[in-house]
Amino acid sequence: MDRESRFWDRIARRYARRPVADEASYRKKLEITRGLFRPGMEVLEFGCGSGATAIAHAPHARHIQAIDISRAMLDIARGKAAAAGVTNITFERAGIDDYAVADGSYDIVLGLSILHLLADRDAAIAKVHRLLKPGGFFVTSTTCLGDSMRWMKALAPIGRAVGLMPLVKVFTAKQLEASLTGAGFAIEQNWQPGKGKAVFIVAHKPG
Ligand SMILES: C[S@@+](CC[C@H](N)C(=O)[O-])C[C@H]1O[C@@H](n2cnc3c(N)ncnc32)[C@H](O)[C@@H]1O
Repeated sequence: MDRESRFWDRIARRYARRPVADEASYRKKLEITRGLFRPGMEVLEFGCGSGATAIAHAPHARHIQAIDISRAMLDIARGKAAAAGVTNITFERAGIDDYAVADGSYDIVLGLSILHLLADRDAAIAKVHRLLKPGGFFVTSTTCLGDSMRWMKALAPIGRAVGLMPLVKVFTAKQLEASLTGAGFAIEQNWQPGKGKAVFIVAHKPG
């Protein structure tokens, strides 16, 4: 975790300043996600980054637990939440793998632009399944490089070795779906805004 957190600490300010690449798709993803929220819900976002998505959803949830391995990202996120007057998000430094909380704690878990950055996505997805209440939802937007940039499989370890890239895993959308269904999720919605773009999935833990 330390090597990865150092990478994200280093680029946090730049990442936070970067405009959203596809604003229309981002808005649509927010809207679809918001449709799942009900008053009183407990939400977890892992890999929350600079906090923009958690802050956008905060008015619609009772509480959002937002975790990330990068202190610098969390500092930016806390600052943004304070500036926006948002008080129902708790930011905490933790990785999805070591985050300790009782099973069945959450109504919704968000994992956005993160599953391809994990050493073991199956373990993370299985953990998300455990952390959700029966009937809960996992919302993920994931770059599936195996469909569009298979050559990244060779390049990513070199980029990581020279410190230019974080850990990046290459898999296809079909493999991601198989990971989700293999963990016990039913896929409710699967939307890819365009070729090469992140795959947006709403997965349901049967209740
Ligand atoms: C590409 S950014 C995405 C940030 C945000 N979700 C977004 O959509 O803009 C990935 C984030 O995941 C965090 N991260 C990387 N590995 C993680 C892990 N194992 N557990 C939790 N967060 C992690 C990084 O620190 C970084 O802030």
